Amino acid sequence: MNLITESSIHLLTAIPGPRSAQLQKQREASVPRGVSSVLPIFVCRASGATIEDVDGNQLLDFTGGIGCQNTGHVPAEALAAIRQQAEMFLHTCFMVTPYEGYVRLAEELNARTPGKFPKKTFFVSSGAEAVENAIKVARHFTRRQAVIAFEDSFHGRTQLALSLTGKSNPYKAGFGPFAPEVYRMPYGYCYRCPHNLTYPGCDIECARRLESTFKRHIEAEAVAAVIFEPVLGEGGFVAPPPEWFQVVTSICRKHGILIIADEIQTGFCRTGPLFACEQFGIEPDIIVTAKSIAAGLPLAAVTGRAEIMDSPGPGGLGGTFGGNPVACAAALEIFKAVDTLHLSDRSRRIGDLFESITRDWPARFPLIGEVRGLGAMRAIELVKDRYTKEPAGEETRKVLAACHRRGLIIISAGTFGNVIRMLVPLVAADGQIEEGLRVLEQALTEVQAEKGSHI
Ligand SMILES: Cc1ncc(COP(=O)(O)O)c(C=O)c1O
Repeated sequence: MNLITESSIHLLTAIPGPRSAQLQKQREASVPRGVSSVLPIFVCRASGATIEDVDGNQLLDFTGGIGCQNTGHVPAEALAAIRQQAEMFLHTCFMVTPYEGYVRLAEELNARTPGKFPKKTFFVSSGAEAVENAIKVARHFTRRQAVIAFEDSFHGRTQLALSLTGKSNPYKAGFGPFAPEVYRMPYGYCYRCPHNLTYPGCDIECARRLESTFKRHIEAEAVAAVIFEPVLGEGGFVAPPPEWFQVVTSICRKHGILIIADEIQTGFCRTGPLFACEQFGIEPDIIVTAKSIAAGLPLAAVTGRAEIMDSPGPGGLGGTFGGNPVACAAALEIFKAVDTLHLSDRSRRIGDLFESITRDWPARFPLIGEVRGLGAMRAIELVKDRYTKEPAGEETRKVLAACHRRGLIIISAGTFGNVIRMLVPLVAADGQIEEGLRVLEQALTEVQAEKGSHI
């Protein structure tokens, strides 16, 4: 399965081709610019790790709809289940007349999320909605209002999720006021240590600051939950040291504060195990999942300790479309595919491949500040100067544009827009990973040459 040697990229026209260029004009006239797109190519079909555009160009996809296609575009098993369910019924609203797929999927998540305690799950339609609901449940259960979130985090674009998000431009600027009772701390971002310390000698000062937050900003007794991404997604694929989680969770436990893990981007084997929390030994009270859960259909889940999830009374949770039957049918197949495709192993293998291919890149490209990540969740942070670590946002845009011209779909991340992130479908063949990284290497070579090679 993993032996593709032929090129996955076939370009018939320059990017964008004429048909895409025409649709782009129509789009500009009819869709607000706030909904931006990274590439001006319009999709015709997609399969595995490739996308064909309306001009017949075939591109290699290292983005998977921003982490939604861990099992590849249009996985055959999910497609059959989607078709079958669509022929039975499309929507009744679980809050009116329930159906089996919703319950079976809840059982699956309860069994497979970290923590051996009894759990319950309900479904909504987007990641942001899941985040909002996790906070609702935590507040209801604890009867506390405050929530602590982290700098460089991303939790979504709805008002409460946006209030939790730790990046102003383009997400928050101009969209205030934000929800009250959200407090913020720096994350465990070692490359840009908020305290100018060096791991491991730092004694995880960033996590220990939680105690001083209780002195300076909000008393612990008023805090319902701490919400974090186990690895920052939009924030630049930053994984804190494992001790960070131990310190944060033990402080939370001491004060009766719930732990909410946002696994929307890290879930479904992106970092190796099914959920990233597993590799840090964390058992969150509530875990939110979305993105790769249902092969690209809009579905998100809130899973948590049964006694917490049962706190709100009947009617307190839900939503018209939450847990759509077609999306649930797809998600059930995704869980099977995770096992049959050995997606965890595959993720680790992709990570190893990435590591071996990029090993000598920092020596060759002074633009590279750090290469990092876990499993297949890999990224490269670019800096103008390794000593000052000044973010190389402009150069990052140029590298991405050079990749796009060559037919590789890849996007950036990071508070300063200077991180290149890889979210390739995990079913991509080794040859496809190698091809994509070859394109990225060419793009880096081009931009580095333009910039000069001083460190
Ligand atoms: C970690 C994380 N949380 C929440 C969200 C929001 O999800 P959605 O865009 O489905 O609302 C995202 C989306 O990128 C995310 O990466």
